[in-house]
Amino acid sequence: MKRQRLVIAGSGSTYTMGMMMSLIEEKERFPLKELVFYDIDAKRQERTAKATEILFKERYPELTSFSYTTDKKEAFKDADFVFVQIRTGGLAMREQDEQISLKHGVVGQETCGPGGMAYGLRSIRDMIELVKDIRRHSPNAWILNYTNPAAIVAEALKREFPTDTRLLNICDMPIAIMISYAKILGLDVWELVPEYFGLNHFGWFTKIYDKSGTDHTERLKQLIIHNGFKPEDKEIANDKSWQETFAMARQMLIDFPEFLPNTYLQYYLYPDKMAAKENPNRTRARQVIEGRQKRIHDLCDEIIQNGTAAGADLHVDIHGVFMIKAAESLAYNLSKRFIVMVENRGIISNLPADAMVEVPALLTSNGAQPFVVGAIPTFYKGLLESQFAYEKLVVDAYFEKSYQKLLQALTLNRTVINVSTAKAVLDDLIAANKEYWPDLK
Ligand code: G6P
Ligand code: MN
Repeated sequence: MKRQRLVIAGSGSTYTMGMMMSLIEEKERFPLKELVFYDIDAKRQERTAKATEILFKERYPELTSFSYTTDKKEAFKDADFVFVQIRTGGLAMREQDEQISLKHGVVGQETCGPGGMAYGLRSIRDMIELVKDIRRHSPNAWILNYTNPAAIVAEALKREFPTDTRLLNICDMPIAIMISYAKILGLDVWELVPEYFGLNHFGWFTKIYDKSGTDHTERLKQLIIHNGFKPEDKEIANDKSWQETFAMARQMLIDFPEFLPNTYLQYYLYPDKMAAKENPNRTRARQVIEGRQKRIHDLCDEIIQNGTAAGADLHVDIHGVFMIKAAESLAYNLSKRFIVMVENRGIISNLPADAMVEVPALLTSNGAQPFVVGAIPTFYKGLLESQFAYEKLVVDAYFEKSYQKLLQALTLNRTVINVSTAKAVLDDLIAANKEYWPDLK
């Protein structure tokens, strides 16, 4: 079995330690010969890197080459895989996105609505540069991108790198939702076979089968309607915000029982309610800074101070395992089924061919082989077309430096709609993002 040289770009992320635990868990199936951390923030990276060094000495002694660097060439030369998890502007800018939107009475969220648009305009430039850097040093490496807002990033990367077939955009939300389905059904998550369509953070499960072919969809819907819905992955199970988000799946199913919704649809279907329930002084970014980020930083410091990871509260999470299992399937041509983003090209026959859709696909050494979805019903088609138009306009606005297109984008977005609100929120976002956004005409 070929051993892999893996690079983690954005290694200072709060998800890195969970990813490391997942690499340990998957070491027989995705063996590494070398692991390299890359980040532009040396200080932030050092913490996760030093903790990882200690952790690996104890639990992954087979891996003899681990290093961390801020040098692109050193990081990206001869890579087999690069996992990309960057956040331009950090959590500080996420907080700005959320607060500015809420100030104008609309949803303040990382990837949805004006916040997602602002983050998209920040991410595109860095993502394009990063992919160019990776390709300069490793033309054939698999790039697994889960940088947000993934829908907008995927659209921009498709335009900038139209012939790059080893670049895959991927999101953990569908599998995180499937863990809850599995729990309800009393099955293992990897036993479930989903049918799904949509855009990233904007889609629906149409069927949930198990590997024997049994269809669990209707029973699952009834169980959710009767008993509610909860997050089950360890990373989010006890998080109040995620509990509230998962609980909304029940409401969505009651209102639209045809398909099982992605949790992110709550922001588009009940935007007023979602905006009203937020506390502008304690948005999700603040919760993450004081919650997950603090916990991870303290944990790393403790490991470094003790010189051991024994007894540290580290665990495997679905995010890491999912990315690594997807990588395994690409690396060793396992043809396993995962929900990923690919260019539509007729998969959903009544949506634009150039949309980056999220659908099930077999991951092979020749890339993602998506399944045909066919024509989708009018309600979903309408929602998806307007959301795709919004995403496209954001990417157009980035390349054309167009204020007008951003105004059109926000006017189409279900979380805004009102043109005066769109203008007001846009003007505040422009001021807050001077350092990051292109200069708009
Ligand atoms: C899910 C989504 C990610 C998103 C994350 C936010 O995992 O798939 O795209 O970044 O949730 O979680 P947080 O806990 O930071 O709000
Ligand atoms: Mn996601």
